[in-house]
Amino acid sequence: NGSAGKQGKSRNILEKLDETGKNCVVFYGSQTGTAEDYASRLAKEGSSRFGLKTMTADLEDYDYENLDQFPEDKVAMFVLATYGEGEPTDNAVEFYEFINSDDVSFSEKSSDETPLTTLQYVGFGLGNNTYEHYNSMIRNVSKSLDKLGAKRVGQAGEGDDGAGTMEEDFLAWKEPMWAALAEAMSLEEREAVYEPVFELTEKPDMDHEDDTVYLGEPNKNHLEGQSKGPYNAHNPFIAPIAESKEIFNDKARNCLHMEINVAGSNLSYTTGDHIAVWPTNAGKEADRFLDILNLTDKRNTVVAVKGMDATAKVPFPSPTTYDAIVRYQLEICAPVSRQFVSQLAQFSPNDAIKAEMTKIGNDKDEFSKQVAEKNYNIAQFLYYISNGEKWDKIPFSIFIEALHKIQPRYYSISSSSLVQKDKISITAVVESVEKPGAPHVVKGVTTNYLLALKQKQHGDPSPDPHGLNYAITGPRNKYDGIHVPVHVRHSNFKLPSDPSKPIIMVGPGTGVAPFRGFVQERAQQAKMGEDVGKTMLFFGCRNSSDDFLYKEEWEQYKSDMSGQFELVTAFSRESAQKVYVQHRLKERAEEINELLLQKAYFYVCGDAANMAREVNDILAGIISEKRGVSKQKGEEIVKGMRAGGQYQEDVWS
Ligand code: FAD
Ligand code: 2AM
Repeated sequence: NGSAGKQGKSRNILEKLDETGKNCVVFYGSQTGTAEDYASRLAKEGSSRFGLKTMTADLEDYDYENLDQFPEDKVAMFVLATYGEGEPTDNAVEFYEFINSDDVSFSEKSSDETPLTTLQYVGFGLGNNTYEHYNSMIRNVSKSLDKLGAKRVGQAGEGDDGAGTMEEDFLAWKEPMWAALAEAMSLEEREAVYEPVFELTEKPDMDHEDDTVYLGEPNKNHLEGQSKGPYNAHNPFIAPIAESKEIFNDKARNCLHMEINVAGSNLSYTTGDHIAVWPTNAGKEADRFLDILNLTDKRNTVVAVKGMDATAKVPFPSPTTYDAIVRYQLEICAPVSRQFVSQLAQFSPNDAIKAEMTKIGNDKDEFSKQVAEKNYNIAQFLYYISNGEKWDKIPFSIFIEALHKIQPRYYSISSSSLVQKDKISITAVVESVEKPGAPHVVKGVTTNYLLALKQKQHGDPSPDPHGLNYAITGPRNKYDGIHVPVHVRHSNFKLPSDPSKPIIMVGPGTGVAPFRGFVQERAQQAKMGEDVGKTMLFFGCRNSSDDFLYKEEWEQYKSDMSGQFELVTAFSRESAQKVYVQHRLKERAEEINELLLQKAYFYVCGDAANMAREVNDILAGIISEKRGVSKQKGEEIVKGMRAGGQYQEDVWS
C-alpha cells in the first residue's frame, strides 16, 4: 500500500523492469533522504560508467513476493539506512519484516529452502557507530538474503555517520563492488558520460506569475490557494507563528521559542512528539548559486522538468522557475561530496580548472583541504575554484540529480498537548558555526530562517540573517502574517500513562525541549487534582545568566506541583572544572536508584554524540554501585530498561 499502489501504478518490480528496459534496480530505505541520495548516485554511476540500465525504487512502492523470479541477468541493489535504535526507516518497515520473517514465502518457490538463487544483489548500509545497533539494517537484510540463496556481489558496505566518514566509506566501498559487478555481469567500463535523468525545458513565453507556475508551493492544492488536509510529510500545513521570542541572554548566540498555531488544520500531537519545519534557503545563497551558473538574468524563466523515462521521479512540482528550484527545492547549502566534484570537472570553464577539479575529486586529502575544511557549499566552492568565472556549461539537471531535495528539520515539541492542544512550542538554538581556517560562518538553513521570521514579526531592524525579502514569494505570499510550513511526526517518547509514577529527565541545552512539555503536563495534572509522582529534571547549560532556558517558568511548575517537581542544574562554565548533568546524576545516585526501583521512567534528550552515551554509562555505574552488582550487570539492567520502555531517548547529532 505504498504510494505507487495508491496511484494505481504497478507494484510489481519485475514488470516495471521489463516495461522500462532496465537491468538494475537500486532500492532505498531512507528516512531523511540521504540513503535515497546514495541510491541515485549508484544508479547514475552504473549507467554512465558501465552502461547499466538503472532505476531507483522506494522500497515502499513495491511488493517483494516475486523476488524469487528475479532474472539472473539483472541486479538489485539495496541502500539501507538504519534508523534510531536499529530500526528500519519508515519506508522500509514492510520489506524488512517480510524478508526477515521466519516463514517468508514467495509466490512461486514457496517450499524451496533457497528460493532466491537467481537474485544477485549489492548492498550498502548507512549507520552511526555511536548507536548500539550499528548498521543493523544492511547486516540483517544481507544475512536474510544470503540465507535465502541470493548471490551477494562484493562486500555489503557500511557507512558510518558517527565517525563522520559516510562519504569516504561509500567511495572506498564502491570501487571493488563495481569491479566485482562488472565481472559478474560482463560489463565493460567506459569513459563516464553524463546522461541526464531529468529534462529541463525553458518556457520563455510563460510568465512566472502565471497561476499554473509553482513558486515553492508543495502541491496543486497549495498552488490553487486552497490547501487541504490531511497534512503530513507530503503535504505540509502553512502554519501561522503565533508568538516568537529570544530566550538566551547571550549577545553572541540565539535560541528561539516559538508558538506555532495549528488550529483548524486537524494536525494533532501528544506530548513528546516532533514537529517538522520546512525551511527556505537563504536569499543570499540562492543569489550566489544562480550567479555562479550565470542564471541571474533567467532566475524567473519558467522551466518544465520531467524525467527522461517513467522511472525518474521529479522531486518537486513543475512548471516552476530556476529561482524557485534553488530557493525552495534543493539543499544548496549542504556540504559538497567528493564524487560531485569529479562529476562537475567535465563542465569546467577551462582546462586548468578542469585539471584542478579532477585532482580534488580524485584525492581525499586535497578534497579535505580545499573543500571540506573550508565548509564550502557547492556555489561557494565553484566560486573559489574558478575565481568567480561563471560555470555556464553545467546542465542544470545535474543539480536536481545530485543535490538533496530540501528536507524538513525536526524539533522536539516543547509544550504539552494537554495544556495547549492547538499551539505547538519549539525551542531551537540558532546554528552558526565558525571553524578556524574556514572563510565562511556556516549558518543553519532552518534556524536562521526561523530567526529571520522572528525578526520580521517583531519589526526588528537588525540585519536579516537569511534574506527573507525573497522568501516572501512562494507559498508564503498567499497568507497574511508570518507563517512556516510544518507537519507533525509522532514519537514513542512518552510520559508514563499513570502520572503518579516518578520520572527522571536528563536534558542539557535544547535537550530540555520535550521536558518543558512533560513538566507542563504534570503541572497541569497536579492542578486538576491528580496524584503526580516525583518529577526530577537534570538540566545543564553554560551559566545561570545567559542560557538558562525557561528559568522563570520552572518556579511556577514547582508551586503547581507542590514540591513534587525538582530542577537540578549543572552550569558548565561557572567554575574552573566543568560541571555536567552526569556529575549531578552521580551526586544523586542513591535517590535515583531508589526511584528506579519504584519503576521511575528515565528519559534522555539532546546530543547523541557524547552526552546520551555518557548518561547511559553513568546510570549503569549508579545501578552497579548501589545494588552491589557488577558493571556488566548494571549495563544489562539499563539495556533491559530500554527494551521495556523504562529508559527512553530522544537524541540527535
Ligand atoms: P543545517 O543547515 O541543517 O545545518 C546543520 C549543521 O550541518 C550545521 O550547523 C553545520 O555543522 C553542518 N553544515 C551545514 N552546511 C555545511 C557546510 N556547507 N559545510 C560544513 N558543514 C555544514 N534542534 C533544536 O534546536 N531543538 C530541538 O528541540 C531539536 N529537536 C530535534 C529532534 C530530532 C528528532 C532531531 C533529529 C533533531 C532535532 N533538532 C533540534 C536538530 C534540528 O532538527 C536541526 O538539525 C538543527 O536545528 C539545525 O538545522 P538547520 O537547518 O538550522 O541547520
Ligand atoms: P560546555 O559547552 O561548557 O562544554 C548545553 O550545551 C550544555 O551541555 C553546556 O553546558 C555544555 O557544556 C554541556 N555539555 C557539553 N558536552 C557535554 C557532554 N558530553 N555531556 C553533558 N553535557 C555536555
